[in-house]
Amino acid sequence: MSERLEDLRRRSIEALAGGGEQRVAAQHEKGKLTARERLELLLDEGSFEEYGRLIRGDITGFGYKPQLTDGVITGFGTIDGRPLAVFSQDFTISGGSLGEAHAAKIVALMEKALKVGVPVVGLNDSGGARIQEGVVSLGGYADIFLQNTLASGVIPQLSAIMGPCAGGAVYSPAITDFIVMVEGTSYMFVTGPNVVKTVTHEEVTSEELGGARTHTRKSGVAHFRADNDADCLSLLRRVMSYLPLNNREDPPRVTCHDDAARADEALDTLVPENPNKPYDIREVITRVMDDGEFLEVQPDFAGNLSVGFARLDGRTVGIVANNPIVLAGVLDIDSSDKGARFIRFCDAFNIPLVTFEDVPGFLPGTAQEYGGIIRHGAKLLYAYCEATVPKLTVICRKAYGGAYDVMSSKHIRGDLNLAWPTAEIAVMGAKGAVEIIFRKEIKGASDKQAETDRLVAEYEDNFANPYEAASRGYIDAVIEPRHTRARLCAGLRLLETKRDRNPPKKHGNIPL
Ligand code: HXC
Repeated sequence: MSERLEDLRRRSIEALAGGGEQRVAAQHEKGKLTARERLELLLDEGSFEEYGRLIRGDITGFGYKPQLTDGVITGFGTIDGRPLAVFSQDFTISGGSLGEAHAAKIVALMEKALKVGVPVVGLNDSGGARIQEGVVSLGGYADIFLQNTLASGVIPQLSAIMGPCAGGAVYSPAITDFIVMVEGTSYMFVTGPNVVKTVTHEEVTSEELGGARTHTRKSGVAHFRADNDADCLSLLRRVMSYLPLNNREDPPRVTCHDDAARADEALDTLVPENPNKPYDIREVITRVMDDGEFLEVQPDFAGNLSVGFARLDGRTVGIVANNPIVLAGVLDIDSSDKGARFIRFCDAFNIPLVTFEDVPGFLPGTAQEYGGIIRHGAKLLYAYCEATVPKLTVICRKAYGGAYDVMSSKHIRGDLNLAWPTAEIAVMGAKGAVEIIFRKEIKGASDKQAETDRLVAEYEDNFANPYEAASRGYIDAVIEPRHTRARLCAGLRLLETKRDRNPPKKHGNIPL
């Protein structure tokens, strides 16, 4: 064997060790796995094919010397036998910082993933732009941002934040479809606590500013929070199980052992008689979906709208559901944003939408109006209107005002619109309506309360039911709640061959 070949072989083995024993130990001490250990847990055993292990940067100086892999491991593997591209930043090599070669490896991976039509999963753990490479590393980030954008809507992109992710570096994960953050060891922020203190005089820790809880509860930047690295990687596998490999494929269909025609009598009494009493729409979802499974996306953010993935008769569906348990299920700025983005993801990747509706309307008040509820609510409306995937809707209780139109109504190309007998489809709730229309009558009545009650009952009989909408064809059928699963499964089967398209255009102009 030639000396050169021997040297290369040695280096290849060296590269497996990352930044060396001490740095690996430091990584473990922080409760983090190494970049390679993470790949082992993410991918099917033995499936990883590495690309570019011998690549290294050629910049030296300011304490930096080129190292094999250049701090990122890239390649292809499988999850449940289905292929994907993956990069895993190696914090043990120069803090996983991103220089020219590091960025070029990620870009090459993404270009190939786009050509062959497989998802990209990024495991992020990096000190950001490599200081020693200056503007070249900024350019590297921009190259990645461009790839993220070009790949958006073509292949699913998932980001795990498993360490620091700061400055402009946050924008690559932000463009991808889903972000998982690991509790306690990851953070994302545009400017760190020191800069915050200088500029705004606020004292805040990294965790408070950009930890997993902050981004899954307050900002809505991240979609899932994981307890640790292993939990994060298993969550990524679970998300992947619902998704197609690319936008030209249908999502995978799994064998379903849950009877598609299964009736559930508990649904008949799940909606409380008192229209103001809350209930958790997730109970409806889990009772209707295959094996009671629902992978909720952003479960801790804008809980008044529950979104996520489930299956009906083995087919992936995207669920969008007003949840009366939070703010009576009202639509507000955050829930509109959350819903719109999820709907657009599903539409881009051929995932049918199932909407469960119980919505009293849009949230009133100056905070919402000044915050632009008109602009944000319009996103949700636009996303539903634009979506050409099968759209199935079940109105469980309230469908009031503009929110009735927005939530996948027939008028905006809903394909199957069902209502339970408890549905109330009207311009507004009975009490509010009566107080507007019969203000004078109530004022003149000897017993105001009795008169109000009488008028409310009359209004409810006339308007707060699903039958007027059904008689006009706005609702396809009023069904017993117990039969919801059977009707949805049958509808989905029929709609499997649905073809619909929007007028040709460069792209629409969704209100952002
Ligand atoms: C080069 C870096 C680096 C960086 C860390 N290292 N960040 N090297 N460029 N950006 C190196 C360290 O020198 C060290 O090398 C090793 O990585 C581990 O770093 P430590 O500081 O020892 O680790 P730790 O205490 O865990 O702290 C991690 C850290 C800190 C919080 C990430 O290193 C840090 O603050 N780094 C700078 C972060 C930053 O400001 N980046 C720029 C963000 S702006 P040795 O050899 O000692 O092991 C940005 C812009 C993107 O990224 C622009 C897109 C448009």
